[in-house]
Amino acid sequence: MERLQKRIASSGYTSRRKAEELILAGRVRVNDEIINTLGYKVSDKDKVYIDDELLGKDNKVYYLLNKPRGVVCTTDDDKNRTIITSLIDTDVRIFPVGRLDYDTTGAIILTNDGEFANLLTSPSSNVLKTYVAKIKGALTPDKLFRLRDGVVIDGIKTKKAKVKVKRYDKNTDTSIVYITITEGKYHQVKRMFLEVGNEVLKLKRESIGFLNINNLASKEYRMLTPKEVRQMYSLAKNGKK
Ligand code: URA
Repeated sequence: MERLQKRIASSGYTSRRKAEELILAGRVRVNDEIINTLGYKVSDKDKVYIDDELLGKDNKVYYLLNKPRGVVCTTDDDKNRTIITSLIDTDVRIFPVGRLDYDTTGAIILTNDGEFANLLTSPSSNVLKTYVAKIKGALTPDKLFRLRDGVVIDGIKTKKAKVKVKRYDKNTDTSIVYITITEGKYHQVKRMFLEVGNEVLKLKRESIGFLNINNLASKEYRMLTPKEVRQMYSLAKNGKK
């Protein structure tokens, strides 16, 4: 037996707190009975409905998070740093799709769908990821060409990238650069810039495919809609060669 709100939360439908709100609002039915008080317990055999819709058992969940700085993208950390899954209020065991560095901010997807994660991180999925980087120094036309054409990292040339300089600040000798890549090698963006002689001072991922974090403040997240999940699946699959 488990508490009704826990059953709702662990199905991936919503967080435990929101599940409690749903119960109190009279929107939850167990078998034939509306349950609108907290503390009710259900067994595996009980059927739970929310707004007359039967709750599945292990639904897949997908979150888009605007990762803040100072968070690790692993599911545990021996140095006791904040781990990314702790930022999401869910009972479902989720994991990040790919990694952002400890000091990198921006868009990251978390899910319990292994197939989705594998597809998206597969080397043949050509999903575009756009980053905005603050770098030391300026990019000469030659450096821009090299970054766009591909630089050698770990003995392998990176795939073609889109690179656009937004502005150069003479006073601080720094540039803001947009870079769009399809791959996700370890420290890829930082190493690409280092390869042409510019250190990355700040890095933020603005978008993954059509998903961007324009409406999410740092630390904020939202669930992907079923349509977005379908579109992401097809985007990642179509990238396959
Ligand atoms: N490239 C990097 O160097 N770091 C990230 O976090 C993501 C891409």
